[in-house]
Order: sequence, then C-alpha cells, then structure tokens
Amino acid sequence: MTGPAKTLRSDTEEPTVVDTTAATATGSGVVLDGVQVVYPTSDGSIEAVRHASGTVSDGRFVSLIGPSGCGKSTLLDVVGGLLATAKGSVSINGETVRGPRRDTAMVFQEDSTLHWRTVLSNVAFGLEIAGVSKKEREARARDVINLVGLAGFEDRHPRELSGGMKQRVAIARALLLDPRILLMDEPFGALDQQTRMFIGRELLRVWDETRKSVLFVTHDIQEAVYLSDEVWVMSARPSTIKSVITVDLDRPRVAGTMADPRFHELTTEVWELLRVESEKALQYRGELP
Ligand SMILES: Nc1ncnc2c1ncn2[C@@H]1O[C@H](COP(=O)(O)OP(=O)(O)O)[C@@H](O)[C@H]1O
Ligand SMILES: [Mg+2]
Repeated sequence: MTGPAKTLRSDTEEPTVVDTTAATATGSGVVLDGVQVVYPTSDGSIEAVRHASGTVSDGRFVSLIGPSGCGKSTLLDVVGGLLATAKGSVSINGETVRGPRRDTAMVFQEDSTLHWRTVLSNVAFGLEIAGVSKKEREARARDVINLVGLAGFEDRHPRELSGGMKQRVAIARALLLDPRILLMDEPFGALDQQTRMFIGRELLRVWDETRKSVLFVTHDIQEAVYLSDEVWVMSARPSTIKSVITVDLDRPRVAGTMADPRFHELTTEVWELLRVESEKALQYRGELP
C-alpha cells in the first residue's frame, strides 16, 4: 500500500498527456476525455488516474498496458459505468456514461462461472434475469456457445472444464446480449502461456466475426501487440495514457505474425515505454533502489 506522503511526491511531476480525442467532435466510439479517478481511503485520497484521454473507434481492438497498480482496472471500470470520475468523462457514441449500459459488457480475470449450473444455463443467465423465455434464451445461448467454440459442452458443469474453457464461457456470456463494446480485464491472466496464445487467436476470430469494439487490459506485451490495432501505454500512478502505439501488422494475425521483424520492433517499442514506467512504480513501492 502507498501512503499519502508518497502520493504528493508524484503530484509535483508534470504528466505527459497524449491527447487522442480527435473523434470527440463526432462523438463516435468510446471517448475518454481527461478522466481523473480518485479513491477516498481512511488515510487520505489516492489519485489512481490523473488524466486519461483516448478514443476507441468503432470496431477497433485496443489494449491497455501499464505497470501493476497504475489504474488499468480503474479505467476499465469507469468505461463500464461501475466507477465515477472525479474530473473528465467517458462517452459512448456521444452519450456520457453514467452507469452500466446495455451496449457494454465486461469480462474479468477471475472464474465467474456459477458452478452449480451447466454451460448452457451459465451463458443464458443474463437473459433469464431479463425474463426471456427458456426456449429463446437457450437458442441465443447456443449461438454464442458455438461462436466461442464450446459446442458440445452445453451440458457440462464448470468443474469439468479447463481454465481456458471457463473463460470462453465468460466471453460467451458477455456476447449474449450482443453488446457493441467488450471490456476485458486481463481475461487470460490466470491461464498458462500456450492456452493464452490459442484463446487469444480464438478471441480474434470472434472479434473478426462480430466486429465489437474491444478495450483489453493486459500486462503481457506480446499479447497486446498480437491482438490489437492500438496499444495504449499507461504511465505509473497517478496515471496518464502516455503513448499510443499503432500496430500496423497485417490481419488476420497468424502463428507467423510473431516471427515478423515488425512484431519484434513493436514489442520492443512497447517494452521501452513500459520499462521506464515500471521502474518508477517499483521504486515508488520500495521494490527497486
Ligand atoms: N477501491 C479502492 N480503494 C482505494 N484504492 C484503490 C481501490 N481500487 C484500486 N485502488 C488503488 O488504485 C490504484 C490503481 O488500481 P488498479 O486500477 O486496480 O490498478 P491496475 O489494474 O493497473 O493494477 C492502485 O494503487 C490501487 O491500490
Ligand atoms: Mg487490474
């Protein structure tokens, strides 16, 4: 944990602000405009995010990467309408976000399956709550189960599934209401490297078919570059969106993408930006001299 005195130290530093709000005028996509988030705590307030601006244009895949504790989850929660800003705003297609919205769905790192329910009824749960008939909700759930590659597993229970399959259930559940925007907070963070690679490719296939806008939090540089159109690199806390790296690799991304010299250049570029910020974060926490 960090104390208030240290928070003040970074208050004297000028944040580098990268303003990518070009789409603000038209209001299309997800627009973060000068977002600041402050958490009140028993020993003072913590400024988690100082100034985050950026636009996720319709249908784009954007990754958010930054040092641990810099405010990635905080920012995602703000976009998802779960957390209020102290300053600035988030708008979606011109409407200010004031709470959770039907056109936005979230996927988290933790296993969110209901262990006593089958895959089918886990996925259909959102429509059950909404009072949709069993026949209709199961038909729609089967569609998204097919989409995420879980056909044949409808009647299984979560205990019979691998970690990767449970995350597919979470993705299917998020897709069920056909949101325009998917917010994903380290969704593959608990999976082993190989599973991560495969499920990442599966996610791109689903994204290609559905063309949702995606804001994807990860701490994995290769994953960020492999999946995304843009990688937003956050600074140490109190954070800003320090740089936006445009990933100009061909799509579809394939196994060979990672062998492309350009992939190497881009991951190196992200690492250089991230290294500086991670060092600051570690020094601040006393984990580096
Ligand atoms: N509910 C909370 N109350 C107080 N501080 C919080 C709360 N949630 C997060 N924080 C603090 O805000 C900062 C950013 O947290 P978070 O968004 O979870 O970071 P990240 O996801 O980048 O690791 C951290 O310093 C964290 O300790
Ligand atoms: Mg987080």
